Amino acid sequence: MLIKALICSFIPSLLVRAMGENDMYYDTFSNDFAFGAATSAYQIEGGWREDGKGENIWDRFTHQNSTLIQDASNGDIAADSYHKYKNDIQILKELGVETYRFSLSWSRILPNGDISLVNSKGIEYYNKLINELISNGIEPMVTLYHWDLPQQFQDLGGWTNEVISDYFADYARVAFSAFGDRVKWWLTLNEPWIQSVLGYGVGQFAPGLKSIGIADYLAGHTMLKAHTLAYELYKREFQQEHEGKVGIALDASWLAPKSNSSADKEASEQAMQFKLGWFAHPIFSKEGDYPPIMKTMIAAKSKNEGYARSRLPTFTPEWISRIKGSSDFFGLNHYTTFLVNPGKSNSPLFKDSEFQLTQDDSWPSTAADWLKVVPWGFRHLLKWIKEAYDSPLVIVTENGVADNRGINDLQRADYHKRYINEMLKAIRLDGCNVRGYMAWSLIDNFEWSDGYMIKFGLYSVDFDDPERPRVAKESSKVYKEIIKNRGFLAPQHLE
Ligand code: NOJ
Repeated sequence: MLIKALICSFIPSLLVRAMGENDMYYDTFSNDFAFGAATSAYQIEGGWREDGKGENIWDRFTHQNSTLIQDASNGDIAADSYHKYKNDIQILKELGVETYRFSLSWSRILPNGDISLVNSKGIEYYNKLINELISNGIEPMVTLYHWDLPQQFQDLGGWTNEVISDYFADYARVAFSAFGDRVKWWLTLNEPWIQSVLGYGVGQFAPGLKSIGIADYLAGHTMLKAHTLAYELYKREFQQEHEGKVGIALDASWLAPKSNSSADKEASEQAMQFKLGWFAHPIFSKEGDYPPIMKTMIAAKSKNEGYARSRLPTFTPEWISRIKGSSDFFGLNHYTTFLVNPGKSNSPLFKDSEFQLTQDDSWPSTAADWLKVVPWGFRHLLKWIKEAYDSPLVIVTENGVADNRGINDLQRADYHKRYINEMLKAIRLDGCNVRGYMAWSLIDNFEWSDGYMIKFGLYSVDFDDPERPRVAKESSKVYKEIIKNRGFLAPQHLE
């Protein structure tokens, strides 16, 4: 037994050493690993005021500030999935995925956001979608909130107002009771960091507030509470009957030390805490609460600036313990890597930290200026998460790449292949507990402030054609093959 254990732990480390960072690793995923694809409501549905849907912050933001969207477009029609959901399910079937991650539009279900008005047509749409998925053998994974806050709440300050967390819990209850008999995988919030910093800090995303270092922290604070309230509610009222899992989708790049120096390593750790730790530490660490380095640095800066208290709000001990552990799994959205060294922040997105972010010129660039192709970073990130949060169950809730090359998307095909392979190394060689992978995205869609200028889909959508036809790209064929083989067959098997 001991010898076997020794051999088992020795072989992977030998393999790691023998294998270069970019080498392909040939092995398969276990049978309980779920492959899938992901989308979100505002980015694909359209039907922005159809069948009683209410206005949300992205409707308002794009209609009032079209100059903030690269091509002055919006999600009014988008990929028209409100009408074409059956086509989407057909292509999911064609891909052979086990899971489809999509989000509910809060204001389609509750037009004003609160439960005084429930839109039966909204419930009906998601019932049809969920039933059609299930009858095609595809498991639904549902995000409650993918950035589309009902506008009525924004008029009360949006996520900066703590009362919104209670309204979110009311909405969660409506969703859990309507769909919980069939939906077993729930995500409360998508990328609260992006919603806070881009939405309330620099104003690049809806609701467009520019209050970095204040409103973003308030918004994040409310979102952590909202997430926890929804989680607790599920456990209390639905867990026994429905036996589902509730998690949260956090965005993280791998923020690698620029060199081996201890200063760069420390800067990388600080960066990981300010980015991923802001939301992950309160939920997934043993201690709970915001990362100590965030608390100390923001308190010191606030004091120097003459504030009466830290701009980062404080949780009571009761909230610290309620938030801690409030997730059955760790949803991870990952795209790229940055290098980190110490110094005055060089990014408008990081006001209170002391590190600089760069990307290596040799890394292949893509149609998104922030997204370079760095597959090995994915494996490092998964290992960091394993070590920082004691091997949580991870579902990769997004991973993908931007281009504008139409259906001959060889860069995307290669991207998915290499990133999936790094994830496989993380599982097999580093012992990371990763159980699912959702490619972003199933179809081309509205890419927020980039409008329709850049594309993430495995299937193309022609946004000039009223029919919005879906056409398979090369990448969908490569992904399909990986799913069919449940991983990567060694070259001799492919002949
Ligand atoms: C993460 C977001 O969740 C998604 O909405 C977006 O399209 C992708 N990143 C690509 O930027």
